[in-house]
Amino acid sequence: MTNLPTISSLTDASWSPATWRARPALQQPAWPDRGALESVLDAIRALPPLVTSGEVESLKSQLASAARGERFVLQGGDCAESFADCTSERVASQLKLLLQMSLVLVHELRVPVVRVGRIAGQYAKPRTSDTETRGGITLPSYRGDNVNSPAFDADARTPDPALLMAGYERAAITLNFMRSLADSGFADLHHPEQWDLEWMSHSPLGAEYRRMVDSIGDSLRHIDSMEGMLPGGRGRVEFHASHECLLLDLEEALVRTVPRREGHYLLSTHMPWIGLRTASPGSAHVEFLRGVANPVGVKVGPGTSPEDAVAMVRTLNPHREPGKVALIHRMGARRIAATLPEIVRAVSAANLPVLWICDPMHGNTEIVTPAEGAWAGRAIKTRKFAHIVAEIEQAIEVHASCGTVLGGMHFELTGDPVTECTGGARGLSDEQLARAYRSQIDPRLNSEQALEVAMLVARRLRSSRLSSPVQCPVRRAGS
Ligand code: PEP
Ligand code: CO
Repeated sequence: MTNLPTISSLTDASWSPATWRARPALQQPAWPDRGALESVLDAIRALPPLVTSGEVESLKSQLASAARGERFVLQGGDCAESFADCTSERVASQLKLLLQMSLVLVHELRVPVVRVGRIAGQYAKPRTSDTETRGGITLPSYRGDNVNSPAFDADARTPDPALLMAGYERAAITLNFMRSLADSGFADLHHPEQWDLEWMSHSPLGAEYRRMVDSIGDSLRHIDSMEGMLPGGRGRVEFHASHECLLLDLEEALVRTVPRREGHYLLSTHMPWIGLRTASPGSAHVEFLRGVANPVGVKVGPGTSPEDAVAMVRTLNPHREPGKVALIHRMGARRIAATLPEIVRAVSAANLPVLWICDPMHGNTEIVTPAEGAWAGRAIKTRKFAHIVAEIEQAIEVHASCGTVLGGMHFELTGDPVTECTGGARGLSDEQLARAYRSQIDPRLNSEQALEVAMLVARRLRSSRLSSPVQCPVRRAGS
């Protein structure tokens, strides 16, 4: 059998997994011992990869259909995963929450939902400052469990390359458990009782969620009664993994070529994304990801110029391959109306196929100082539920008016009952944040808040899709 070259294999001969090294790479840790780093990377290079090229290609084609409005992407998980959270309960509760949200989205939108976790490798974080000072002592900032530890002491904060291997192992354990859960009927919708939630009894949206679960259960039973046995194991659900592609030394060690496929694959995750702080046309991170066949997310913010957005998409996807690039916009509820339309228009005018995803979290972070309670007078990072919903609603309007498709949403969320974002059906106040604030970096939606967002915006998305049919102004690759 001859191997036809895939679009992604037609990469520029000037690219190799190491060409990023000629560019200034932002947000890299200052590893104290380069030799120790190299030996950990050699060990990782010798190990099997974490995902397969077949899974990556399958996700890419699903993302291409989401860009056309035929699917919807739900991307979500912790801001930063921690090694301590690699437990069966925690992984299962993250997946369960993504499933519950996708159930709501499927019910309203009537299209398949592509679930992409911020999971199995979201262990490295960009930081505003390289150092942190407390009580006159200055130490390196915490950069995620792949690099150092959050405790404020010199040992904990010194970057340790052994943590990269610990992260690789935890990612492998997490992916193994995700695949086993998916294969073993974890998400079987024939048993709606497992979809019941405590919040249904006190949330105004609870009754509606109950109706959705019942209606999906009824449809499945109806299909079963007509078909007899389940064709192709309908109990199986798919999950994909994603993380910010930040530590380029580590990611380079997981670039592989595979038999019977052309080109290079980054097999640390299915869908790497470039964070806002490292997303610019000439950046080392764009250089690194332009040569891999994976679908790639790129964060764009209120400071991203339309020219830069277009330049990054062109560089990352020179052959205009559908599903290859997702622009993840995170403008903030107050700035999206002024900043998103010109980026959308520029990308459309350049005729570039892009999957548009709204991240309503990162532009809406704010510092509050509770007036009373356990954390009175303390500055706390939070996000308001109303701003998160408002940003998505405006994103729906912008895309409808530009004739483009909002193909997905990106959330920071957790199945744990945390109190990190304010508002929602329980009306969580600034004073209540101290009750269960666990995030090391950014505030996440808890499961109740995440489901409420899904329910509130799913209806808006549906009516927008019904009233403004999609006119995708892009050519298919090769046409
Ligand atoms: C993140 O997704 O956690 C993040 C840091 O986002 P951004 O790069 O958009 O600021
Ligand atoms: Co974050």
